Amino acid sequence: MSPDHGFSREYPDGRPLQEQGLFHKKFPTDTDEDNLVSRLEFTKCLVLTSGAMAAGQCWIAANSLLGEKAIYPEKAIVKVSELPPGGAMVFHYPGDEPCVLARLSEDKWVAYGQKCTHLACAVIPRPSHGDLYCPCHRGFFEIENGRPIAGPPRRPLPRVTLAVRDGVIYATGWEVRSQ
Ligand code: FES
Repeated sequence: MSPDHGFSREYPDGRPLQEQGLFHKKFPTDTDEDNLVSRLEFTKCLVLTSGAMAAGQCWIAANSLLGEKAIYPEKAIVKVSELPPGGAMVFHYPGDEPCVLARLSEDKWVAYGQKCTHLACAVIPRPSHGDLYCPCHRGFFEIENGRPIAGPPRRPLPRVTLAVRDGVIYATGWEVRSQ
């Protein structure tokens, strides 16, 4: 008996694989040709998958780069004369997002998003203690830089960038920060 068990490797019309239609090209009757097609299909699949993954990585990288360049509106918060050193207040920026502003000294101001980075409770600025306090699970953040110093929070508070102009404090955007 022949190695192909008596089955003919010929196509019904006698033409070679290259001249066959799509069906026979995808499913050749010859084992060697079938293996070759499978390898080609696998290689094609590998190249396409790798290409898609590379494109995805490029998209993520481009997105994070563009994210850092997001433009926020400038918004007046308070007159310098209305918040004495050691004072703090809540404001909203850029829309409804609650934030806190604290005046640490005559010319040092800091502002952060008010949502605790643990489970989003509202933090309370306490300039006299040098911290922002989250009463939900006793979380503490350093008021100078917003970094967590005690309790469950592990990430710093998002920081609002500020500008002082003509005696008024303005929120100008969000600082991109890692840990
Ligand atoms: S929500 Fe702030 S410490 Fe848990």
